[in-house]
Amino acid sequence: MGLKTKDLVGIKGLDRDDIELILETASGFKDVLGRDIKKVPALRGKTTVNLFYEPSTRTRTSFELAAKRLSTDVINISVSTSSIVKGETLQDTALTVQALGADFIIVRHACSGVPHFLAPRLKASVVNAGDGTNEHPTQALLDLFTIREKRGKIEGLDVAIVGDILHSRVAKSNIYALKKLGARVRLIGPPTLVPRELGELGVEIYSDMDRGLEDVDIIMMLRIQMERQGKGFFPSTVEYFRNWGLTKNRADRAKKDAVVMHPGPMNRGVEIASDVADGKRSVILDQVTNGLAVRMAVLYLLGGVRG
Ligand code: CP
Repeated sequence: MGLKTKDLVGIKGLDRDDIELILETASGFKDVLGRDIKKVPALRGKTTVNLFYEPSTRTRTSFELAAKRLSTDVINISVSTSSIVKGETLQDTALTVQALGADFIIVRHACSGVPHFLAPRLKASVVNAGDGTNEHPTQALLDLFTIREKRGKIEGLDVAIVGDILHSRVAKSNIYALKKLGARVRLIGPPTLVPRELGELGVEIYSDMDRGLEDVDIIMMLRIQMERQGKGFFPSTVEYFRNWGLTKNRADRAKKDAVVMHPGPMNRGVEIASDVADGKRSVILDQVTNGLAVRMAVLYLLGGVRG
């Protein structure tokens, strides 16, 4: 049993069965990760290359660990010390690592569409680790896994995604994923950062955070992406926190057993107060832990088959 595609470029192109298969497989790997011997021989002989053109802590590290737990060899390309700084093109770099035997190329890039460009040009499986403002599919999958683990289901839940939706690939992948699995989604943030056209995806849009959080099951906070904001989308971080920062009082407007999520890295005191990030509702570190099992499932189900 595997995924129907060679690559994982986004959630948009997956169907509900694919998502369920990944979550179910991740659940099995989470059990494996709880054992003394955490390594399985499933992909022995395969090679994984992490090709990250943007910084990362969680995604790069967990893909490396996932690949190692599945017994693949792993190479991390450091852009700053590679021939990319001499002007080598994206396609030439990817073809070069494939010629060295890469079965999986995990790519993160500031430009939307990079994994979609590479996938048909390579025999290796291409996995999107975040492309510009487009998608971050494995983040959404680990978020789904965490929601199901904490709340027992996804169908019928009310999920609020809060903050810089405009620049967030995490938000886009989560909107697709949550809608495919039957959740109701609310987007909350300043009008400058919540594109009205996203309403066409069947989500509700709020600019008043207190109203938007009323009775939700899940509060998913987003990082304010200063590095992607060319102009002022709000007057100051102090004003942003006053209107859209998650405080304990605001979190208490959600259901009593609502959980607080954040993909990380966090801007503490800008989009989320520290006592909420570290508080009893927070499942932020569980998200990180679950990312490992989910990324193992993705690599395993793609199988490193050179088509
Ligand atoms: N959530 C996430 O993508 O974090 P990193 O940028 O640290 O990988």
